[in-house]
Amino acid sequence: MAASEEHDSPTEASQPVVEEEETKTFKDLGVTDVLCEACDQLGWTKPTKIQIEAIPLALQGRDIIGLAETGSGKTGAFALPILNALLETPQRLFALVLTPTRELAFQISEQFEALGSSIGVQSAVIVGGIDSMSQSLALAKKPHIIIATPGRLIDHLENTKGFNLRALKYLVMDEADRILNMDFETEVRFLFQNLVQKLQRAALKNPVKCAVSSKYQTVEKLQQYYIFIPSKFKDTYLVYILNELAGNSFMIFCSTCNNTQRTALLLRNLGFTAIPLHGQMSQSKRLGSLNKFKAKARSILLATDVASRGLDIPHVDVVVNFDIPTHSKDYIHRVGRTARAGRSGKAITFVTQYDVELFQRIEHLIGKKLPVFPTQDDEVMMLTERVAEAQRFARMELREHGEKKKRSREDAGDNDDTEGAIGVRNKVAGGKMKKRKGR
Ligand SMILES: Nc1ncnc2c1ncn2[C@@H]1O[C@H](COP(=O)(O)OP(=O)(O)OP(=O)(O)O)[C@@H](O)[C@H]1O
Ligand SMILES: [Mg+2]
Repeated sequence: MAASEEHDSPTEASQPVVEEEETKTFKDLGVTDVLCEACDQLGWTKPTKIQIEAIPLALQGRDIIGLAETGSGKTGAFALPILNALLETPQRLFALVLTPTRELAFQISEQFEALGSSIGVQSAVIVGGIDSMSQSLALAKKPHIIIATPGRLIDHLENTKGFNLRALKYLVMDEADRILNMDFETEVRFLFQNLVQKLQRAALKNPVKCAVSSKYQTVEKLQQYYIFIPSKFKDTYLVYILNELAGNSFMIFCSTCNNTQRTALLLRNLGFTAIPLHGQMSQSKRLGSLNKFKAKARSILLATDVASRGLDIPHVDVVVNFDIPTHSKDYIHRVGRTARAGRSGKAITFVTQYDVELFQRIEHLIGKKLPVFPTQDDEVMMLTERVAEAQRFARMELREHGEKKKRSREDAGDNDDTEGAIGVRNKVAGGKMKKRKGR
């Protein structure tokens, strides 16, 4: 069993990073030739630090807690040993990867497919918010790898005939601290206690901690700034910054679905190519937004913390914390959406009169005092009128949107978009999930 990502109380001494290991190749780590070729084709010329640390131990079958900074290749650090082991002893339903968000599940599946395409690896993504019948069919084909969010996986374990995880050899929890926190408590307990019998120890057996960065570190090539402004000027400053840094790709984080939607509408009214991603959108819209942003058809992605973990979009240049994160740790994950895999990037955090304490906590956590992002206040103020007008339109659109949504909810019945188990509701509905037409 392998766990990846942060863990608050690791049980074993960490492995020091050995400098000379920097020159190691994937082959040196024990990765089989065909997978080394796959790495090569992805442009992975040499393993990253966490891959150097974790892969040989994972290949020995050790339980692992992996910690490394954002964008440092943790996915490959668990995917490669799993694929390697799968090649040695081919077997269906070989590994399960749990993730906290649906988008991350799709991304991890893409990584497995990219690394495993030449060896015919089949994976299935089992997440909420999309048709459950087609997932049952995919599970009936017994894929090698399942990548799942906890709630929907449990639904299938309870309701999909013939599907179980008794043969499972590898379990990965990506963003483990997030999966093991309270939101998924019931689901995780259920998975550990009832299903993965072999792994019933529910934790790790003599695990090795592979830590290649200090705990709460942001990456070196990330330039971080803040701006301190009155709350009522947030929109105007945002527009100013987007103009100043025009030509870049932005991820802008907001604290609520509503503000994400509102800000997206506001920016669109001002002619920006902005697109929202949040939990009140249908899953097809969520993936649609993400794909448009990934394909550079939109330059601004506005998101809640649903997008703060794990998403790997290499061309993101700037992360804006439009609403300051309430949990300081989320700050590190959010800003980690840029400056990935050795690239550089910028992060700008909006601090209002209400956010001072939260901001100080963030600075304390990352162990840095951040500089101010320079702004020309007179230029900012010249934008106020246009922004005020766009705000009015956005409010109107939001209201219309809300009413439309209410009507469609009354028509469609099922309008749920959460990660919770829907087994019960499924049964009530006679097993027929109505796909929600999202707005
Ligand atoms: N050995 C390698 N050489 C070059 N690039 C790599 C290597 N391994 C992974 N990458 C690339 O680095 C990027 C980041 O990888 P990944 O998403 O696994 O990071 P992560 O450590 O999981 O980050 P996060 O903490 O944000 O989840 C991806 O685009 C991936 O393709
Ligand atoms: Mg990751």
